[in-house]
Amino acid sequence: DSLAGRFPLTRNERAASASLRAQALEDLHFGTTFTDHMAHARWTQDEGWGQHGIIAYQDLTLSPAAAVLHYGQEIFEGIKAYRHQDGSVWTFRPRYNAARLNASARRMALPEMEEEDIIASLVDLVRADHEWVPGGAGESLYLRPFAFASEPFLGVRPARQVDYYVIASPAGNYFPHGLEPLSIWVSREYHRAGPGGTGAAKTGGNYASSLLPQQEAYEAGCDQVCFLDAATEQNLEELGGMNIMVVDADGSVRTPRLTGSILEGSTRASIITLLRDEGRRVTEETISLQGLLEDIVSGRVSEVFACGTAAVVVPIGRLAGHGMEAEIAGTEVTRRIHDLLTGIQYGRRPDPHGWMYRL
Ligand code: COI
Repeated sequence: DSLAGRFPLTRNERAASASLRAQALEDLHFGTTFTDHMAHARWTQDEGWGQHGIIAYQDLTLSPAAAVLHYGQEIFEGIKAYRHQDGSVWTFRPRYNAARLNASARRMALPEMEEEDIIASLVDLVRADHEWVPGGAGESLYLRPFAFASEPFLGVRPARQVDYYVIASPAGNYFPHGLEPLSIWVSREYHRAGPGGTGAAKTGGNYASSLLPQQEAYEAGCDQVCFLDAATEQNLEELGGMNIMVVDADGSVRTPRLTGSILEGSTRASIITLLRDEGRRVTEETISLQGLLEDIVSGRVSEVFACGTAAVVVPIGRLAGHGMEAEIAGTEVTRRIHDLLTGIQYGRRPDPHGWMYRL
């Protein structure tokens, strides 16, 4: 029983929105345009979670003392809705994102939510805004669930009032050049997360800490930053907002193992499964920067790529850093993986694991 119909837009709002929508869907970027509605629920310590509702997309009213603005008690998710050839709309592994949102909630001392309620909020929002799901190649409706400490209180303790929202944004490629190989800046000075920290949680602070090194990356002519682990400063962890994988010349694939400071990407997990289905060897292991550079030079490594919900699968053509430079030429396996994964997501290939969820 959808809540979507309870907050209809007026006729004028609908007309204005249809024209904005037509314009927005003409020329899609990432994260710049938002749909007509959003999902909302509020939790209080005394009452628990209240009813989820779909409301008009609007600015939030927030106390300047809201704890999130001071101490960053916040979590979020990223998940996409895809339009298939027959017009139907689907999302990909929503249970994975719901479970990860709750894992992030535990780490950030925020209240967990029933997985069914998280999924229902996505379903209701996409149903309300189904006309916003674009249908072009590589396009999707990016869904951004998030929850934050809205209690006005400056003491440092878990908030007793939390708001949960889902907003939606029609999206094209995350990187403006699509599947063009990326240049990656390996940060030596800064780390994203440390042992026992919040690196495995999807929380704003991890992304805030990536911004300065990301800026360093841009200044060095690179597209993304890559972080090394804080404990040894030798091993690859992840990029600013996506995981990293290495393809060996023998066709096997390696990715940094989950150390507790790496985000457990849904795309990362799905790629591991799809490649193993194909009979490829895939390992989650410690990958040192030094070892990777030697393997690129010797030819043991033929491809490196980035993966994430927003970015999908993108080849990495260059690694750079202070006193370091390496070129990687191959993109064949990366393109194959991109095709396998997006084939399932866009309904061009069978879905052997039942990952697709019809909205
Ligand atoms: C995603 O891939 O969905 C993320 O949340 C990462 C962010 C860089 C957009």
